[in-house]
Amino acid sequence: MSIPVSQFDALIIGAGGGGMRAALQLARADAKVAVVSKVFPTRSHTVAAQGGINAALANVLPDNWHWHMFDTVKGSDYLGDQDAIEYMCKIAPQVVYELEHTGVPFSRLDNGKIYQRRFGGQSQNYGGEQAARTCAAADRTGHVIVHTLYQQNLRAQTHFFDEYFAIDLLKAEDGSIQGALVLCIETGEPMIIQAKTTLLATGGCGQMYRNNTNALINTGDGMAMAMRAGVPVEDMEFFQFHPTGIAGKGILITEGARGEGGYLTNADGERFMERYAPNAKDLASRDVVSRAIHTEVKEGRGCGPNKDFVYLHLDHLGEEVLQKRLPGIRATSIAFLGIDPVDAPIPIYPTAHYVMGGVPTDRFGQVVVPVGTGPEEAVPGLYAAGECACASVHGGNRLGGNSLLDILVFGRAAANNMIEALKENPSHKTLSQESIDAAVTNLTRWDDISEGSETVEGLRNELQRTMETYCGVYRDKTMLDEGVEKVRELLKRLPNARLKDHSKIFNTARIEALELENLMQLSLATIVSAQAREESRGAHSRVDFPTRDDDKWMKHSLFFMEGERLDYKPVRSKPLTVENFPPKERTY
Ligand code: FUM
Repeated sequence: MSIPVSQFDALIIGAGGGGMRAALQLARADAKVAVVSKVFPTRSHTVAAQGGINAALANVLPDNWHWHMFDTVKGSDYLGDQDAIEYMCKIAPQVVYELEHTGVPFSRLDNGKIYQRRFGGQSQNYGGEQAARTCAAADRTGHVIVHTLYQQNLRAQTHFFDEYFAIDLLKAEDGSIQGALVLCIETGEPMIIQAKTTLLATGGCGQMYRNNTNALINTGDGMAMAMRAGVPVEDMEFFQFHPTGIAGKGILITEGARGEGGYLTNADGERFMERYAPNAKDLASRDVVSRAIHTEVKEGRGCGPNKDFVYLHLDHLGEEVLQKRLPGIRATSIAFLGIDPVDAPIPIYPTAHYVMGGVPTDRFGQVVVPVGTGPEEAVPGLYAAGECACASVHGGNRLGGNSLLDILVFGRAAANNMIEALKENPSHKTLSQESIDAAVTNLTRWDDISEGSETVEGLRNELQRTMETYCGVYRDKTMLDEGVEKVRELLKRLPNARLKDHSKIFNTARIEALELENLMQLSLATIVSAQAREESRGAHSRVDFPTRDDDKWMKHSLFFMEGERLDYKPVRSKPLTVENFPPKERTY
């Protein structure tokens, strides 16, 4: 098969906030940049981010980056790498001001400064009073960021390949990453994008769960590509369940709703968070609130005929506040439930939201892997940023508002690192034919899938239910053992998949099969890592190991696809310039 080749300095896979922030930095430095996106760029999942981006601007309440750093380390349940966390929190104000100057229309205070709201897990003075650190554009912060970055990239001459699907990374003969094999979804034609540097910015994999806040496109493509290239994924057992999804549907109701004063009640009308988090109450960190809701329902205090949700109250805030600060969630509640939160509470239940794990990187966005018992080494040419990466700034549990920050800080950092790498490696290297052949085989085995005994749709539904049942908010050995076997079985059944009963197979159907394989590989990484970690930390709650065990488990997990091998590496607990925050009991 003869495949056309396009050459670029940098290939960015994914056009969400991380990818586009990186692309902008590179294009402004005169690099020739390709952005490959399987959807039109402004449909990338960052567009759905509601509540905002954290930075200690102190516009509303006193704040500084040290407090932000403390909250992030504590929120991570001490699994976050403190060098990367310091870097992120310290540079956050600069990154937000850069966004503002790039054209992002933040909401404003009366004095003209950027509006900041209260979010979960935020404190002043290292665990004291609630802070207000989340910079917001009403409840459409991701939307305005993505649109602004897209327009600025067009202006900077970034080359967009819209509706192209990345199949696999390609290597040069020296083993460095040199771009990817991609597929034009419209025509079905493959193309090689050869690049001196490649950034994975493909977002998360929330579609492995049935009820989730994620777009249908969030199938973990970048993480799975990295695994197939021999790179492990880190800390996949830490999957965040957002406390407030619309019950039964999973659609996100921003934490900003509680930040603006919303609160939760059970069937007795009790504000139950006061029992679980006496200080922070409804604004405790997400893992704590999600477990509390789960427990209320399990113990029979759920609301509704089936007692399977709790209520989020916003009606006391008044129409003016809701319309000004939370117009999107008001519209969502009316559209999906027929409930106007001005008048009545919203039924909510935890919903799969965010993967803390991902492709391991250092704080410069460079993908790094352990080599034997020695220090980690960079994978030449490969970078990752945003939800698909693990820097690790979120450790066992991410704080709300730190996701938009992560994508922008590390998209920018990775781009700066790539610019330096381009100076040192100005020429393209010869691609390895073996690597091209492997990628082409991965694509062409889905060319004729009209005859199989299973459907892609059926297998995907089964996978989502399996992960929800066996690897949800609470886990134990029995359920994880069973879940691991079920996911392995699903992977074995995958080659029998046929696409729905179409008389004609469309490229989009082929893409669904490729996405399902990515999801299955990542589900296996998630559930095998969860089975192995015998402690409770952050979002990973083992009923059979209910406490955190720093002696045995203060370490990052690494899952290698080949042989389902698990390895571990130490937490980087030494910050760059300040004292470290040693592990303590975590209460809110
Ligand atoms: O609740 C939210 O608005 C989500 C924010 C986040 O995940 O950071």
